[in-house]
Amino acid sequence: MGELEYLERIQHEPHPLVLELEQLGQRDGIPIVARSTGRFLSTLVHAMQANRILELGTAYGYSTLWMALALPPAGRIWTVDPDRGRTAIAARFLARAGKAQAVDIVNQPALDILPTFPQRNLDIVFIDAVKTEYEAYLELAVPLLKRSGLVIVDNLLWHGQAAADPSPADSAETKAIRAFNRVFLSDSRLDATILPLGDGTGVGARVL
Ligand SMILES: C[S@@+](CC[C@H](N)C(=O)[O-])C[C@H]1O[C@@H](n2cnc3c(N)ncnc32)[C@H](O)[C@@H]1O
Repeated sequence: MGELEYLERIQHEPHPLVLELEQLGQRDGIPIVARSTGRFLSTLVHAMQANRILELGTAYGYSTLWMALALPPAGRIWTVDPDRGRTAIAARFLARAGKAQAVDIVNQPALDILPTFPQRNLDIVFIDAVKTEYEAYLELAVPLLKRSGLVIVDNLLWHGQAAADPSPADSAETKAIRAFNRVFLSDSRLDATILPLGDGTGVGARVL
């Protein structure tokens, strides 16, 4: 048995709605975070008692649901995705989980709302939208965090392509993720690291 398989086998089954959404996402070919990343988000939300969370990239609300299930009673998540078809599914699952009131779905492109986003002192910003826009998201999102708040970023290994030898055939996403990783790790506003969790998970604490 592989190490990852072993770790998965000894952990609790996720919430039944999380399992159902995983299957639906798989059936429809929707990119969602790895289950291990979902668990990590849940643990962070519990540890921080995070009650102000911004998510960029909702899709079917799989990562949103992991975080929503861990929210303290007065917690709020703002989750951003212009795709109304996808977020209608997210809204259905969040309602079934009893979390509809805790989550605001914003159907606009992230770069349209970030410059004027009215919330401040966020505990967590979770970035999982357009890979070529990650640098722009980071620039605009860090000032929205409280000091010690976390920016979490998915797909920093980009399915093995970030670490591969650079080639002229590399996609715009691969190039963007490699460039982002350098920017993220040297951002003086953050104490940042990248974990080999799921598809590569960036974690940066706001220090300035
Ligand atoms: C990887 S999926 C998000 C997965 C989700 N975080 C999860 O784990 O369940 C990326 C999402 O970004 C959305 N997206 C595309 N353009 C966007 C934009 N400009 N701003 C925000 N989200 C965008 C897509 O519609 C897609 O649903």
